[in-house]
Amino acid sequence: MELLSELLTDYLTDHGDAEPPLLASINRETHLKETRPHMLSGHYQGRILSMISRLLAPTSILEIGTFTGYATLCLSEGLAPQGCIHTIDINEELQERVQSYFEKSGLAAKIHYHIGPALEVIPTIPELFDLVFIDADKQNNRAYYDLVFDRVRPGGLILIDNVLWKGKVLEKETPDKQTASVLALNAYIAADQRTEKIMLPVRDGIFLIRKKIFIN
Ligand SMILES: C[S@@+](CC[C@H](N)C(=O)[O-])C[C@H]1O[C@@H](n2cnc3c(N)ncnc32)[C@H](O)[C@@H]1O
Repeated sequence: MELLSELLTDYLTDHGDAEPPLLASINRETHLKETRPHMLSGHYQGRILSMISRLLAPTSILEIGTFTGYATLCLSEGLAPQGCIHTIDINEELQERVQSYFEKSGLAAKIHYHIGPALEVIPTIPELFDLVFIDADKQNNRAYYDLVFDRVRPGGLILIDNVLWKGKVLEKETPDKQTASVLALNAYIAADQRTEKIMLPVRDGIFLIRKKIFIN
């Protein structure tokens, strides 16, 4: 189930900022060369990630799930002048191409690109994060959320992609295993008193979660 029709998505993208040329070429190349190109955030979601990042002006960002670096570059657009982004992917096959995109962007010095399983890499990064984007293997989302929570500064944001799971979270029948785990995580986050949160019906659903400054 597509949450937003193609017509509406076109209207939204036509009335927002254009896709920057490098991102448009990454988008094209990903569709030409990858078997699962839909994993890339794309024009509309990418502009939302960019806008959220610009509003926050983060000093430190963590992205879990680099893929072809599309969202990495969108999130980097909002970095504070001295800021940096750590992005992690388990797939080393894309490393050379993705690194070349980072070089072309002029932002390579701000991007720390880690190859390895995120659950092992995250503890090696000694920073507090202002913004975390969780977008890798969905079965680990709860583990990622719990692992990064104490590493997010008060007032910082956690974004989780695919929380509407192609609309399957609304189905009445007994959920399959993956949908059940999405439902369980969404319920866990909804009940988390340490945060303010809102789900955005963007593409496959983004959970926008803000860590409270004062936790009662
Ligand atoms: C949905 S894609 C990321 C898309 C990217 N964030 C974007 O918006 O353009 C998910 C990525 O997570 C990576 N991944 C899967 N399991 C992982 C793990 N355990 N640790 C790190 N990365 C993983 C995959 O290799 C894949 O490239």
